[in-house]
Formats: sequence, structure tokens, C-alpha cells
Amino acid sequence: MNTWHRTFLGVRQQHNYALYSFIDEVLENEPIERFVELGTGGGALSVVLGLHAVQRGTHLLTFDYQIRGDQPKLEEVFRLLHIEFIQANFFSWEKYIQLHIQDKPCFLFCDGDDKAREFNTFAPLLPAGSIIAAHDYGDEFQLDELQVEGFVPILENWWDEDVYKLRTCFFKKER
Ligand SMILES: C[S@@+](CC[C@H](N)C(=O)[O-])C[C@H]1O[C@@H](n2cnc3c(N)ncnc32)[C@H](O)[C@@H]1O
Repeated sequence: MNTWHRTFLGVRQQHNYALYSFIDEVLENEPIERFVELGTGGGALSVVLGLHAVQRGTHLLTFDYQIRGDQPKLEEVFRLLHIEFIQANFFSWEKYIQLHIQDKPCFLFCDGDDKAREFNTFAPLLPAGSIIAAHDYGDEFQLDELQVEGFVPILENWWDEDVYKLRTCFFKKER
């Protein structure tokens, strides 16, 4: 089976199903109260993170210059899940993101064009107990580009797992 070019709700995934399972594992037993996605793309992961957010009594905040692909009903799906989509350069929305987080433990997913810069810009905004993930490590950036002081790696044994091409690194901010 091709584990990469699949779709989710008819939307081409820019990740794969394994990522959903790893996000579940990472979030289990963690009192995460905020969700932020940098890079909405086609919106498939936004739907997954949006569902996690609803389960925890909050909503996903996600950014992109524009939604990718032709999905006439995506706006409606986002509305039903209370997903807040902002069409903008997220680097200009640092203050808004900080207001959204409000010192609550946050899951922040870096998936724009410059993951290392995203990680290094937004990681310092996160309160203790937060989890930050950066997609496509090893391809688009190397670990030594990330400023990880104060963070501990999670699930690192899986990061290099080629079978599922996870290649998303996760770090938790220490208390
Ligand atoms: C790989 S896609 C995101 C995929 C999505 N997270 C998923 O897993 O389904 C990256 C997206 O980030 C957007 N992007 C990159 N840099 C950005 C920025 N600085 N501000 C807003 N959007 C950005 C691009 O337009 C592109 O759609």
C-alpha cells in the first residue's frame, strides 16, 4: 500500500494516517487546552486537530496564505468544527497567537515553508506542558536548527521510522 499519497475526507493528505495515531499518542493524558496549526494546506490535518480541540472544549486556530485545492465544502466543515482559519502570514500574527494561547498548555504544529524558523519563533511563546511538533524534519530542516532548550523530545524512537515516513519531531516544554 502506498502510505503517502492518500486522501482524508477526499482531501489529499500532505502527511499520512500514521501521523494521526502519533498525535493521539502524544496528546494522551496531556492537559492540552489550545491548538494551533501553522500551514493549513488542504485542511486534512486541520480537521483532525479541530476534532481534538472540540473534544477538549476549545477550537483550532490555523493559518495559511490560502487553502490548497478545490474543496467547496471545507469552509462548512471548518465552521462545524469551530475551526478558526486566518488567511495571512502567521509570522505577522504572533501577538494574536499568544492571546489565543493565554498561558494554557498548547499543541502547536509547525507545517509552513520554514519549519525551523517557525519552531524557533513560536516555541518561546508556549507555556510549560505545551507540545510543539515540526513536520518534515530530515527533509526540510535538521534537528540542530531547532532551539530546544527547555524542551524534551517525545517519541523520538519513531522519528526515523521509514515505513511510515513519520518524520515529525515532537517536543514537550518542561514544567
Ligand atoms: C505542507 S502545507 C500544510 C499541510 C497541512 N498542515 C496538512 O498536514 O494537511 C504548507 C502550507 O503552509 C503555508 N505557509 C507557508 N508559510 C506560511 C506563512 N508564513 N504564513 C501562512 N501560511 C504559510 C503554505 O501556503 C502551504 O499551504
